[in-house]
Amino acid sequence: MDAIINRRSVREYDTSKKVDYETLLRLCKVGESAPTARNQQSREYIIIDEASIIERLSNVSQGSRVLKNCNTVLAVIGKNKEALSTPHMQVQDLSCAVENILIEATHLGLGSCYIGIYPLEDRVSACDEILGVDGGAFTFALITIGYPKDKTVFYDKNKFKDDLVHHNRY
Ligand SMILES: Cc1cc2nc3c(=O)[nH]c(=O)nc-3n(C[C@H](O)[C@H](O)[C@H](O)COP(=O)(O)O)c2cc1C
Repeated sequence: MDAIINRRSVREYDTSKKVDYETLLRLCKVGESAPTARNQQSREYIIIDEASIIERLSNVSQGSRVLKNCNTVLAVIGKNKEALSTPHMQVQDLSCAVENILIEATHLGLGSCYIGIYPLEDRVSACDEILGVDGGAFTFALITIGYPKDKTVFYDKNKFKDDLVHHNRY
């Protein structure tokens, strides 16, 4: 699928346009379509389009400054580990959801960028406080979503090298 090969981190957005809410719900749905260990469904999502909240999130880390260039953010939230059957696999569950969202956004012609939050405690607690995440749930990642300023932003960077692949033994 071209969306997988051509996905790129987009950091400049046309903020005169907004992604409609139905599309944002679809992105949450594709996130939730990703696998979870023992089907433990350990994730939740927050759709954020309030400028003052995005501004606060943009100051959480150096890497989150890109949020100043966008008007919509998805937060991928981890449910309280205590309620899970396989809590040690929750990070993988959450990562799978993020990747699904990035690929679907690309497929829809939308830009996206993964902003790493978990496991850095200062970032997690700052995001949790800003977003009101509580009850043992935690902010795993933020994803910028929007219309890219540069429409040629999707391209195959060809990061693949033949020597990355081993056959039968490392
Ligand atoms: C776990 C993780 C955390 C990341 N955190 C940030 C971030 O805080 N800010 C940012 O601008 N990009 C972030 N990125 C995006 C990477 O910088 C980007 O994927 C990488 O440079 C490769 O570029 P590409 O996505 O265009 O292929 C993150 C990516 C991952 C997987």
